[in-house]
Amino acid sequence: MSNTSLRGRDFLTWLDFSRDEIEMMLDTAHELKRKQVRREQHHILPDYTLHMLFYNTSLRTRNSFEAGMTQLGGHAHFLQPGAVYTPALKGEEKAYSTERISDVARVLAEMGDAIAIRIYGKHTGWKYGKGNLIVREFAKWSRVPVINMEDDMYHPCQALADVMTMQEKLGHNLQGKKFVMSWAYSGSVEKPLSVPQSAIISAAMMGMDVTLAHPKGLDLDPNVLNATKDLAKKHGGGFKIVNDMDEAFKGAEVVYPKAWTVQPTDGSGVMDPEKAKAIFEANKDWITTKQKMELTNDAYYMHCLPADRDMEVTDEVIDGPNSIIIEEAANRLHGQKGMMALIMG
Ligand code: CP
Repeated sequence: MSNTSLRGRDFLTWLDFSRDEIEMMLDTAHELKRKQVRREQHHILPDYTLHMLFYNTSLRTRNSFEAGMTQLGGHAHFLQPGAVYTPALKGEEKAYSTERISDVARVLAEMGDAIAIRIYGKHTGWKYGKGNLIVREFAKWSRVPVINMEDDMYHPCQALADVMTMQEKLGHNLQGKKFVMSWAYSGSVEKPLSVPQSAIISAAMMGMDVTLAHPKGLDLDPNVLNATKDLAKKHGGGFKIVNDMDEAFKGAEVVYPKAWTVQPTDGSGVMDPEKAKAIFEANKDWITTKQKMELTNDAYYMHCLPADRDMEVTDEVIDGPNSIIIEEAANRLHGQKGMMALIMG
């Protein structure tokens, strides 16, 4: 199975793809999910190897890629900086413990069929954009596709699972459905902007009526906001930003409340934990409760997980009848299989 427009492409952000191309991935993902449920073998990538490099921890991403490659007839290698020489940008190498990305990318490309990377947060000194720069450096040097398993700007694989799950719950055509991406309180400020940014981009690309809600001071990247606005216009959806969680929830069909940090996005500096903590602590009431869910149009509750229970959301909501978090996590497997089948196949 292959599609010439997608074969060999990197998967770094949805912004690199047209809606038709993303829909090809989603349709393939739904098709492969049906095959997997029926236990029909679908070795589209026989003996293929995916090299996965995790600077950060993971439950869902690691296991969905490993299981996905096995189901496609291939294999995934789990690589951790420290166990391999830590891939570093030119000028940031340290003798004996690091290896320049240009060398790592070219070597791994000779031994496998794609390279996947996760990097954000403390591994980039919380300097916004540096994780994305590192992923793009791999893509520059690798002759096989590079997959972004979450950097500090985007989590495009999560977005595939999120849209797939909404299609299963609300119908394939998401046009005009009211989607709310909301900030939520957490006791930790170490939360990248990748999930909310990919969520608003993907919902806007699908023509949804998107509301972004957050307290003042928790703005997302203006370039991402502009891209989302353009996508909403192009695909007949909507996009607005509000600073009130209750206002955002009114009439929503899907709510996706999670924490993200206070992060300078203009290259001016790094995340300041003290400043972020002060803003977080002033907004502890941004928790998703049953009362808030009652403001919605019987909305589905989504979260990429892991969730900070009793901070971002109450147990009653996350374990309640409208929560689709497990389906969402499960679709990480299927969404990524659809994407890999097309870019690697
Ligand atoms: N949602 C997500 O990326 O989960 P992990 O951090 O467990 O991979």
